[in-house]
Amino acid sequence: MVKINVGVIFGGRSVEHEISIISALQAIHSIDRNKYNVVPIYITKQGQFYTGEALTEIENFKDLDQLVSRCKQIVIANHKGEIVISEYPPSMFRKGRLGTLDVALPVVHGTNVEDGTLQGYLEMLNLPYAGCNVLSSALGMDKIAMRMVLKEAGLPVLDYVWFYSKRWFSDPAGVYEEIESRLAYPVIVKPANSGSSVGVTPAANREELEDALDLAASFSNRIIVEPKVVNLREINCSVLGDYEKAIPSVCEEPISTEQILSYKDKYMGEGGKGMGGAKRRLPADLPADQTAWIQELAVKTFHVLDCSGVSRIDFLIDTASDQVYVNEINTIPGSLSYYLWEASGKSFAELTEELIQLALKRKRERDNLVFSYETNILAMKGKGGAKGIK
Ligand SMILES: Nc1ncnc2c1ncn2[C@@H]1O[C@H](COP(=O)(O)OP(=O)(O)O)[C@@H](O)[C@H]1O
Ligand SMILES: [Mg+2]
Repeated sequence: MVKINVGVIFGGRSVEHEISIISALQAIHSIDRNKYNVVPIYITKQGQFYTGEALTEIENFKDLDQLVSRCKQIVIANHKGEIVISEYPPSMFRKGRLGTLDVALPVVHGTNVEDGTLQGYLEMLNLPYAGCNVLSSALGMDKIAMRMVLKEAGLPVLDYVWFYSKRWFSDPAGVYEEIESRLAYPVIVKPANSGSSVGVTPAANREELEDALDLAASFSNRIIVEPKVVNLREINCSVLGDYEKAIPSVCEEPISTEQILSYKDKYMGEGGKGMGGAKRRLPADLPADQTAWIQELAVKTFHVLDCSGVSRIDFLIDTASDQVYVNEINTIPGSLSYYLWEASGKSFAELTEELIQLALKRKRERDNLVFSYETNILAMKGKGGAKGIK
């Protein structure tokens, strides 16, 4: 059997760079080697691409300079339909071609990678890839656009106010007025597109709001403010599949040590395990009907945003009213949510297998769509083709 070459892409210019390394290495060690050749592709914080065996051991990432010196910098190109990895810079004396890729598994988190940027690059190359497409990735990363789409689709979301960060500096009185006329304190202030709780701050009054807005503005050029759920329970549910068929995992309840679930809670529970090592109740202790409702909302959210692969949808429950709100979707969740799937009866190897197969299915379906015309109108001489549209 010819093995399929899977490029596991990770790293990138994102505050969640290190988390991506952990998630990706977990995936790399879970992919079935009888069926797939795994090609690790690491994007540095400067945006350079590298490959090499040394990228498969987490220990090696303690010294990044030394690590990349043991790897090869590469470029990926579409050559006559084949996706070729070559050494960069090219050398006159060596062949340079290191191999080919059949499919990519992006395991990146955060802005500049998870937000449709990497997905757009893979689309341009015409390399099939696992997970969300450009639109769903971009929507999933943008807390404002996501909120608008989910609200329009009738999903339960918190009320919100949004504005450009620049406006906060030029018209603070107007911003206060808008927030305070619409929402009651306490509120939560978030940069539109960070992640891992970076820049997310509660504010109980105007003074705290000022600091929270200053902080959020340092991370993003757009800010969202929403009511703070005071009697809060957080529940997460993963969804796996595509537009045709998507299934929910069991639900988890992450356990926070601070007022809001912090970066530390999420990733530093058990050293080196990423989201896999965080503290949680799994399955979450919820009544069966509430679990079913959350799972239904998770699948709907996945569907409305045109998601694919594995996502994790995070919910906020107001225990005073028992109201459930969709808070956000993570289109490439930490550790690919493998622990939620293991608890649902699917091993990490089965999860990566499904992700790769879904990528290949999407590629087959896309190949049946029309993206260009066979005829070149510029070559149609004398038939008015080259005259253009008048
Ligand atoms: N409206 C809210 N009310 C109460 N707590 C919230 C609210 N929104 C977010 N939080 C807390 O802040 C954390 C991070 O916010 P979230 O919207 O999930 O952003 P991130 O993309 O950084 O994970 C949440 O896990 C939760 O603990
Ligand atoms: Mg979150």
